[in-house]
Amino acid sequence: MFNYNSNWLKTSIYLLLIIISSLAFITSCGGDSSESDKSNLTETMKTNTSGLSDWELENGFGPVKKKLNLGPIDNTMAAEGEKIFESKCASCHKLDERYTGPAQRNVLQRVTPEFFMNTVLNPDENLEKHPHSKKMLAEYMTKMTNQNVNLKDARTLLEYFRVLDEELKNQNKSN
Ligand code: HEC
Repeated sequence: MFNYNSNWLKTSIYLLLIIISSLAFITSCGGDSSESDKSNLTETMKTNTSGLSDWELENGFGPVKKKLNLGPIDNTMAAEGEKIFESKCASCHKLDERYTGPAQRNVLQRVTPEFFMNTVLNPDENLEKHPHSKKMLAEYMTKMTNQNVNLKDARTLLEYFRVLDEELKNQNKSN
């Protein structure tokens, strides 16, 4: 009788322990899953369907991480950029025709100034991750190689293309 009781007591204690620990387990799991739901939600809000953040989609991957504050066009800088284009880019790009790479005169009508600089400074990562670069790679079947352009040179190149872009816009206006 006594033995039976103590066994019963042991069994109840075991059962109680099991219930308590499974309760603790369930609550901790619940906590975890709601936590990850929350971070998935912010992830979804941050990203668009391409899986990139809005910033990455618009501006590409590279050292330019915020919007450039572009003032009026600086013609001296643009002339410098034209020289760099001739020496480092013209082997693959023409202004008005498809060549090894896409025609570049109207590049700023395709991409943002920030994307332009990031592509020039960091072509590899963009080719790997960015849908625009991947699409171009599929079309041109050659990888744009890193030309070891520094930030200042990339900025002068951008200035050159701003001049070309301005000319295009003026032509369109007078047409
Ligand atoms: C080895 C050839 C090569 C050189 C040199 C080269 N590019 Fe490219 N570039 C390409 C190709 C090919 C693409 C298309 C994407 C790809 O397949 O890499 C491209 C893409 C681009 C793009 C992408 C945006 C677009 O829609 O056109 C920009 C901007 C660009 N090049 C600018 C430049 C500039 C500026 C230079 C000089 C600093 C340069 N490239 C040098 C081959 C080259």
